[in-house]
Amino acid sequence: MEKLIKAARLVQKNSHAPYSNYKVGAAVLTEDDTIVSGCNVESSSYGLTCCAERVAIYTALAQGHNKFKALALYTKNGGFPCGACRQVIWDLCGNIPIYITDKNGVIEETTSKDLLPKAFDDSMLK
Ligand code: THU
Repeated sequence: MEKLIKAARLVQKNSHAPYSNYKVGAAVLTEDDTIVSGCNVESSSYGLTCCAERVAIYTALAQGHNKFKALALYTKNGGFPCGACRQVIWDLCGNIPIYITDKNGVIEETTSKDLLPKAFDDSMLK
């Protein structure tokens, strides 16, 4: 997991966060052990901002990856995924380990299921 965590830490440097100044980096590990990373990208129309987790997952999908084994998140102070990202992680990654990290390393290992108990998902749409 060291490489995944390092990728999340490195990519937060590319964050475009001129409004919040809160840099976030995320990296997903795909089924074939590819690491795909993403950072938060803010818009002057704030609601258009996209979180790092979603940028990473959507980028991976665009590159042809659709099975994920783990996700690492980096912020300076160990922030957890927002509610919207918890839903997207659950929908697209299922129950995977999530490593919450800050500048000192791993703060907590959790899972998508623990972050979104009793989730709504595609099983309700069948
Ligand atoms: N942010 C993320 O990238 N991921 C999260 O899970 C929480 C919030 C970003 C969005 C915005 O650019 C900044 O952090 C402050 O909310």
